[in-house]
Amino acid sequence: MNAGDLLQPTMDILDLIKKRRSVRRFKDDPFPPALLTRLLEAGQSAPSAGNVQPWRFYVVRNREKKEQLCDAALGQMWICSAPVVIVVCAEPERSRISYGRRGSELYALQDTAAAIQNILLTAAAAGLATCWVGAFREEPAARIIGANQQNMRPVALIPIGYAAETPDTPAKRPLHEIVEYLD
Ligand SMILES: Cc1cc2nc3c(=O)[nH]c(=O)nc-3n(C[C@H](O)[C@H](O)[C@H](O)COP(=O)(O)O)c2cc1C
Repeated sequence: MNAGDLLQPTMDILDLIKKRRSVRRFKDDPFPPALLTRLLEAGQSAPSAGNVQPWRFYVVRNREKKEQLCDAALGQMWICSAPVVIVVCAEPERSRISYGRRGSELYALQDTAAAIQNILLTAAAAGLATCWVGAFREEPAARIIGANQQNMRPVALIPIGYAAETPDTPAKRPLHEIVEYLD
């Protein structure tokens, strides 16, 4: 596979969605900066209520900061094995200005979650592994990345790199259990 293939992946979107896995062991190898930019563009392109785009992406490559993030993530030290960790933050105040409480408490988080999923899927399409990490203490995480804690809420840590494990596909609840047709 050449670099062009990496940047122009072709796969049915549903196949890609089904193939994406949460990976918790990464190779040391870095990945091309152009791919990192692609992931950030994927986040940038997510839908958001009123197109407010209430998010900010902190790219952490510094080892010490990564280790501090692992501590903030309740000791999930495997996160440090990824060459890059993107900390995705929501900026609820931006959504509050347009939509009041519903904006700051709901839309800002929904918008940010959409950006996170865009990043995970774009990474998967490029052959990169990720995991959505939500179990962390927000206050230290914000401090570590130098985010203004008044208006920036860390929502997810996304370790990204080449997979050093191939997780089994976890069971997903069957459609009949989660879908209701109201014909
Ligand atoms: C909101 C959220 C928070 C999560 N937090 C963590 C976490 O802190 N640590 C972790 O190892 N996995 C975390 N995960 C990953 C889930 O465990 C994973 O998505 C789930 O087991 C299904 O596996 P799959 O992603 O391979 O389909 C989180 C996922 C989501 C959506």
